[in-house]
Amino acid sequence: MEDKKVMPFEKGLEHGLDFLAEGYKYILNRRISLQSDIFETRLLGQKAICMGGEEAASLFYDTDKFKRDGAMPNRVQQTLVGKGGVQSLDGFEHTQRKQLFMSLMSKENLERMDKEIEYQLEKAVEKWKEQSEIILYDEAKELLVKAACAWAGVPLQQEEIKRRTEQITSMFESPMAFGPSHWRGRNGRNLAEKWIRDLIRQVRNSEIQAEEHTALYTFSQHKDAKGEFLPVKVAAVEILNIIRPISAISIYISFIALTLHQYPELKEKIKTRNSQYYQYFVQEVRRFYPFFPIQGAIVKKDFTWKGYEFKKGTLTILDLYGTNHDPKLWENPSLFQPERFENWKGSPFSFIPQGGGDYLSGHRCAGEWITIRIMKIFLNYFVNELKFEVPPQDFSYRFNRMPTLPVDGFIMKNIQ
Ligand code: HEM
Repeated sequence: MEDKKVMPFEKGLEHGLDFLAEGYKYILNRRISLQSDIFETRLLGQKAICMGGEEAASLFYDTDKFKRDGAMPNRVQQTLVGKGGVQSLDGFEHTQRKQLFMSLMSKENLERMDKEIEYQLEKAVEKWKEQSEIILYDEAKELLVKAACAWAGVPLQQEEIKRRTEQITSMFESPMAFGPSHWRGRNGRNLAEKWIRDLIRQVRNSEIQAEEHTALYTFSQHKDAKGEFLPVKVAAVEILNIIRPISAISIYISFIALTLHQYPELKEKIKTRNSQYYQYFVQEVRRFYPFFPIQGAIVKKDFTWKGYEFKKGTLTILDLYGTNHDPKLWENPSLFQPERFENWKGSPFSFIPQGGGDYLSGHRCAGEWITIRIMKIFLNYFVNELKFEVPPQDFSYRFNRMPTLPVDGFIMKNIQ
């Protein structure tokens, strides 16, 4: 029997405000000061175990030990993910639902997405050439919403593009916000869910046709073992689980542009090295820049790990950002070095910008391949297809804004 140990802990009744103040670095700061990859604290009025690093990630994704039902705070469900979606499912129900997502990620469908992005980018560039300057983040959000809707089979009329983009992007911009920004996200979700629910009903009543292999078709027409459709509300949440994160890739795109601006010598490397360098560059953007700070789960049944007790029902939080910056896993983690991926021997638990572990049996992000492909297309455009100037602006990004991005959204001018 392993000796029981007292888990390192942070004193105090509540540390939610510290989390908001320190943001992405909250767990990493304590892992350093407590000299431990695991510690106990209090968040949202309850005891919480925080942990980071490869071993911790491997434990966190053990579905015998942790469940997701009940792990997501209400304010995140009401904005970012919605209710009844794949994120909060466990076991067989989760695998079945996840299968629907993964079935959309066939080679043909991924290539179809590449084409949508290239088409939308070509159209957008023609428009950008007419403008004296653009905010890349705003432009990328709209472009990606258009591509995502086309790919998902969701009809989008010209006159609704701005409105729908605002609704969809407010969902990922608002979960950690307070006051009006948070309410903008809730309102955005309500309106977007209603829009998609109406479409699902129309598909089911054969009032409109959805093409096979699209998300609209898949989630509208799928029947479970009992021959029943997904509830309309749930199907709408899942279709938005496709469109919303595709538009959120605009954040990574802004960081790609920022990196090329700050390390211009990398442009030459991208041009002269083989195509594998695209992969290293994009992976390093996903490792280096903050996006999702953490992921939560609930202890399923009592167990002991490395002498530390995990009691059933305890909220447990994995440090995604801090694992990607763990000096035990990454040499000089705060340097941007795409070459580190050249001979990378990592595991599904050491590099976890979009979650870790397995896609089907676990909760690893369903859209990781799409994300990488879209990032590569934009990277190629920035390096080989576009000429532009970058005016003075605030290039910094805040570690206590979640998700964060360059303050001015990356302004580009005189695009050719
Ligand atoms: C913008 C870049 C993206 C980031 C940073 C990101 C990050 C994440 C993270 C951290 C998770 C949670 C992992 C966990 O629960 O342990 C997740 C889950 C998920 N993501 Fe992404 N994601 C991105 C893009 C996408 C895209 C493009 C799609 C769909 C096309 C997508 C669909 C999903 C789905 C459906 C889940 C839930 C998986 C499950 O619970 O089994 N994501 N993502």
